[in-house]
Amino acid sequence: MILITGGAGYIGSHTALNFLKSGLDVVIFDSLEKGHIETVETLKKEGNLHFVKGDLKNYEDIINVFKKKMFREKELLKILSSSYNTLCIRRRR
Ligand SMILES: NC(=O)c1ccc[n+]([C@@H]2O[C@H](COP(=O)([O-])OP(=O)(O)OC[C@H]3O[C@@H](n4cnc5c(N)ncnc54)[C@H](O)[C@@H]3O)[C@@H](O)[C@H]2O)c1
Repeated sequence: MILITGGAGYIGSHTALNFLKSGLDVVIFDSLEKGHIETVETLKKEGNLHFVKGDLKNYEDIINVFKKKMFREKELLKILSSSYNTLCIRRRR
């Protein structure tokens, strides 16, 4: 299970697509401030994708995504761009 913040945006959506094509489950967390729900809907056709709307600046929103998706152990994989709001966290199996 991969969590991608900013996944409805440019870099995040391409990242999500690659993970989905690799057969991994993906959770996109995005405020939709700049991203598009249509992008998320398109990505859903590529694999097992969940979308959670939330703001990284809101502590409760962040806690909510971890509660919902039961990420137990978190591993920061990579900060994928110069954008501060796109990152991935992978849940260990
Ligand atoms: N066609 C192209 O070549 C193209 C298109 C778009 C962007 N770019 C480039 O890509 C780079 C930017 O891409 P990006 O993916 O970082 O930006 P982006 O704006 O496309 O994506 C950022 C995502 O983060 C979300 N977001 C922002 N603040 C948030 C918050 N507080 N909580 C949760 N989500 C939040 C936005 O809603 C958006 O979906 C720039 O260098 C830009 O020039 C290129």
